[in-house]
Amino acid sequence: MTAKKKVMLLPGDGIGQEVMAQVVRIIEWMEGAGLISFDLTTGLIGGASIDAYGEPLTDATVANCLDCDAVLMGAVGGPKWDDVPFDKKPERGLLRIRKDMGLFANLRPAIVFEELADASTLKRDVVAGLDIMIVRELTGGIYFGQPRGIETLPNGDRKGVNTLTYTTPEIQRIAKVAFDLAMKRGKKLTSVDKANVLECTILWREEVETVAKSYPDVALSHLYVDNASMQLVRNPKQFDVIVTNNMFGDILSDCAAMLTGSLGMLPSASLGAADENGKRNALYEPVHGSAPDIAGQNLANPLAMILSLAMMLRYSFDLDDAADRLENAVKATLADGVRTGDIMQDGCTKVGTSGMGDAVLRNLAKA
Ligand code: IPM
Ligand code: MG
Repeated sequence: MTAKKKVMLLPGDGIGQEVMAQVVRIIEWMEGAGLISFDLTTGLIGGASIDAYGEPLTDATVANCLDCDAVLMGAVGGPKWDDVPFDKKPERGLLRIRKDMGLFANLRPAIVFEELADASTLKRDVVAGLDIMIVRELTGGIYFGQPRGIETLPNGDRKGVNTLTYTTPEIQRIAKVAFDLAMKRGKKLTSVDKANVLECTILWREEVETVAKSYPDVALSHLYVDNASMQLVRNPKQFDVIVTNNMFGDILSDCAAMLTGSLGMLPSASLGAADENGKRNALYEPVHGSAPDIAGQNLANPLAMILSLAMMLRYSFDLDDAADRLENAVKATLADGVRTGDIMQDGCTKVGTSGMGDAVLRNLAKA
């Protein structure tokens, strides 16, 4: 075993706390089994940080994250902070950590586990065997473009402004990530834009074409985002890797998540650029939010969080064996018929958040 890896835990708010607790149990088990060696630090983000420090993310927490080898995050937000000023909202903490760590590449795999093919609201035939990867640009686009804000015009009307911008390097670096992933998978890449209306996405399309010249083995196609969202529910298996901008990726990844049966199943990795030693900043988080309606009731599905740990083991630490073992334990748990409410099916055993953690730990120990 090499030197201890420094891992920062940011459970955040709502169900973020509960699902992170299950991941900590799994990390402890893996340490005991000699599979990993982590030095864990826990920090605050989102509403939890607002309550403690009056802001959704502190400079000290950012510095701690930058000092770590990887960050695992739960979720942020909740009605408790509805009245907080916009620039201090819990979500600003998440957007800031992404920006400050330079996490421009957000990988959101949507995989349908065989056992859950009937849990989707779509027909089994449409989703069974689905394995797609959405690559979302995460530090640019309309989420960060200037000018932005709400202003009052001389006539008293109010005007809201957000700006969609992308530069050539921003587009090319995310396109490269997507092409590289496509090369390791089915060699098919779909770039999603709105080039029939938005100039910024005309540039997006042109720059993706430029990068494509270095990847002659990848079949590249382009779709407008409205069509892409329709195709995702019509015939999702036509896709292999999808690359798109920040906002379209936000929307399409929630849609893709539901194909898999539940938003509670989807992990994600957010990666920065590699430095000269190949090290990159990385943050792993479930795609789901803080689900305040079920928070604190031991109802949340921890599998997206647990699968985010598996992504961390694989992408940040090259611990493929440990990642395989964890993913197999999740599959075995589903095969055992263990289900949280969101993926409950006839004949299965309904458990809570900690019960799902117990079941995954049991299967880990068996492997
Ligand atoms: C996501 C979330 C965030 C986003 C919110 C919480 C700011 O929806 O990670 O998909 O829009 O990026
Ligand atoms: Mg989202």
